[in-house]
Amino acid sequence: MPDAPLPATVSAPAAAPLPPAAPWIVVKFGGTSVATRERWDTILRLAASRRAEGARVVVVVSALSGVTDALKALCALPPDERVAAAGRLTERHRALAAEMGLGRVEAMERWLDSLQRAAADGPGAGGELAWQAEVQAHGELLSSALGAVFLTAKGLSTQWLDARTCYAATDLPFLNERARLLSAQVEPRHDPALAADLAARGEVFITQGFIARDGQGRTVLLGRGGSDTSASYFGALLRAARVEIWTDVAGMFSANPRQVPAARLLTRLDYEEAQEIATTGAKVLHPRCLSPLREARVPLLIKDTQRPELAGTEIGPEVREQAPSIKAISSRRGITLVSMESVGMWQQVGFLADVFAHFKRHGLSVDLIGSAETNVTVSLDPTENLLDSDVVAALAADLARVCRVKVIAPCAAVTLVGRGMRGMLHKLSAVLAEFGQLRVHLITQSSNNLNLTFVVDEDVVDDLLPRLHEMLVRAGALRADDATLFGPSWQALYGRAAAAAPAPWWRAARPRLLKLAAERSPRYVYHLPTVRAHARALRASGVIDRLYYAVKANPHPVLLRALAEEGLGFECVSPGELAAVAANVPASAPRLFTPNFAPRGDYAEALADGILTTLDALHPLQHWGRLFKGREIALRVDLGRGLGHHDKVRTGGEGSKFGLPLDQLDAFLALADDCGARLRGLHAHLGSGILDAAHWGEVYAQLASLAERIGSIEFLNVGGGLGVPAHPDDLPLDVHAVMRHLAEVKRAYPQYALWMEPGRYLVAEAGVLLARVTQDKRKGAAHYLGADAGMNSLIRPALYAAWHEIVNLSRLDAEADTLYQVVGPICETGDVLGSDRRLPASAEGDVLLIANAGAYGAAMASRYNLREPAEETVIE
Ligand code: LLP
Repeated sequence: MPDAPLPATVSAPAAAPLPPAAPWIVVKFGGTSVATRERWDTILRLAASRRAEGARVVVVVSALSGVTDALKALCALPPDERVAAAGRLTERHRALAAEMGLGRVEAMERWLDSLQRAAADGPGAGGELAWQAEVQAHGELLSSALGAVFLTAKGLSTQWLDARTCYAATDLPFLNERARLLSAQVEPRHDPALAADLAARGEVFITQGFIARDGQGRTVLLGRGGSDTSASYFGALLRAARVEIWTDVAGMFSANPRQVPAARLLTRLDYEEAQEIATTGAKVLHPRCLSPLREARVPLLIKDTQRPELAGTEIGPEVREQAPSIKAISSRRGITLVSMESVGMWQQVGFLADVFAHFKRHGLSVDLIGSAETNVTVSLDPTENLLDSDVVAALAADLARVCRVKVIAPCAAVTLVGRGMRGMLHKLSAVLAEFGQLRVHLITQSSNNLNLTFVVDEDVVDDLLPRLHEMLVRAGALRADDATLFGPSWQALYGRAAAAAPAPWWRAARPRLLKLAAERSPRYVYHLPTVRAHARALRASGVIDRLYYAVKANPHPVLLRALAEEGLGFECVSPGELAAVAANVPASAPRLFTPNFAPRGDYAEALADGILTTLDALHPLQHWGRLFKGREIALRVDLGRGLGHHDKVRTGGEGSKFGLPLDQLDAFLALADDCGARLRGLHAHLGSGILDAAHWGEVYAQLASLAERIGSIEFLNVGGGLGVPAHPDDLPLDVHAVMRHLAEVKRAYPQYALWMEPGRYLVAEAGVLLARVTQDKRKGAAHYLGADAGMNSLIRPALYAAWHEIVNLSRLDAEADTLYQVVGPICETGDVLGSDRRLPASAEGDVLLIANAGAYGAAMASRYNLREPAEETVIE
């Protein structure tokens, strides 16, 4: 639910009184959100806007940041220091009241007096724990009292509400006194009488998170995450239209952003998935606050107080029309595994009951369980257990009487969460292969089919998580491309480059593009200024001595001419590409010929034209040695690994046909010598679509150390492969960082010239494919949208499962509310341009725009089915 950015000045609008049946909205703000005047302005604005929506509002607040900890500390002080500690808290609250322009706030002063008294008196007849609860409750009582006065003073008439009068803790027989008082639980039921009573009293209320009363009327605390829990209790009691948790991040993410900056915002979760994610590691929401809402079917929204315009995470009942997807990958550290091994005893009636009785006696709750005929392994989660080594040792000693016990720690549990996990197993092969390299102690699959958990050694998790996340996205198991489920990456929202992403050129060119598509479709359109801008971006640093454009990406004559004007040379892999360059650019532009398994005649032709040729095998020198006499050549080596956006474009290492393996280097040098060829340069190109800025510097360093051995080398060609992210929310390659890395290694080897040969980077974003909608069809669960462009025009989705953004250009600003399979007219099931795409409901004749199609689009087109591929147009 987007909110407009908050204006600087705030005042509450006057509104007509609400009818008795007006809905309720509960909004909750945490400690930092109530700690400054500016933040209170935000609360005022948000509460007022909810009221203006026609809802009654309950604002639930935490204590000012740090105050609960200070109160806890106060309780542990010797009696003579407690009053001074309470005095410091008094000053802090009065200072904030002054900052808020309120002078003396009587309602708050009453709670400050009460705190002073409680601090001075110390525990009474009620006991130490009851006193602690009483003292700590003051944090929320104070902040809410202050808030009521502030909001009312600003024109939003607000009633102060004592949360302890609204619900009582459940008396659970298994809880001890500490848990009853300091970590109480409530089972809220819809309470129409309370709703009616409050409706009669007012429209906007402010109340406390974290506190409740018990059956005896004592103040009790709700424990960790208590304020969120309070908000959800109010949501359930009042059967609210929604509960909003305002915090300092935009919501839940597909992984912990601290470990995985590429983690994506989860925009829509059902209660069970959210519960699973919260339970298995996410800290944004306490798992306890979901079940009251689930029963009452009240949606919960998590929003960023500083960025209210972001959609946030909405948690609600399950929605059906969704591509199945893994929603998140989470990890929990500090897991202890207890493996119990025995022979022949598992069949005995009651054996497991006996074993688990030991866990119960030591107060340990078991999380994961794996069992075999002679082994049962369970995990103990530190968030549920007080796991000190004494407890575990005592447990192990007890268990040793009935079986062989092994304690494995520290471990981490890595969990994949998503509804219908078992139906996604076929997409997890890469992930399983990754786990194949590690010690996996236990694998469990939850019986609700929502999670799959791997327990591994704790120290591997930090490296593992980002890799797994990327693999899940690549494999289409985590459907980061479905905009109704996933929002931007954390990096894109909060990272360094967050502000930098400009709108793509085609948004501004929309009227022209619509006209072009109306004339003819399908049609590729290339935006020349974008090509030039990318060329300049690469040249700007001055680090690269010679840039060659990899013509294969897009050999359109106008693009070749423009790139020649920008000072680029040309890298060609066939006589055809060499001819296209010769026909369109001045003879002075440098050229390279870098073929692979080409016939003899191709080499002969290029060498005769004096074109610097790169070899990547012994064969040409062994068999056609005469061709190379007196020629300067370059050598493409295989550095033993490949990289890139898909297996099919990784051009190094085993399984790839490119490059000379290094164990043949000496043979190559000897042959070159024999033939009288002069080896001037080394070349490596590991693959296409690389987004790691350090890559080219690493290649340069490796080539440089080889070059030092060889002696005659003058230039090092680090290849192309500069990636362009498929998804608009992904971070682009940081070209400055690429150049920084290169400059650094070049300083160590200044004797070599640095060459580079990018293709995609220069032209991908400059090109779009325009197509028109042909037909609409529903079949089973699928809703197909036909386009007049298919795999004959753009084969990348079919060949590499490449993701291209698709928009309906005719309805660019309409809500994308329909899930389509976008397909072409070619007679193959693989003729899909985009699966599970959200678009506005589209009609025959609408213009679809397929973005990032300037590289390897038209260049790879075919006349399959004797359908002419899209023709090409260049615009300035
Ligand atoms: N240099 C050599 C030796 C190459 O083989 C290639 C691309 C490049 C440079 C340029 O790579 P770029 O900067 O464009 O990533 N059809 C695939 C890409 C295949 C690339 C083949 N070689 C795709 O559509 O993703």
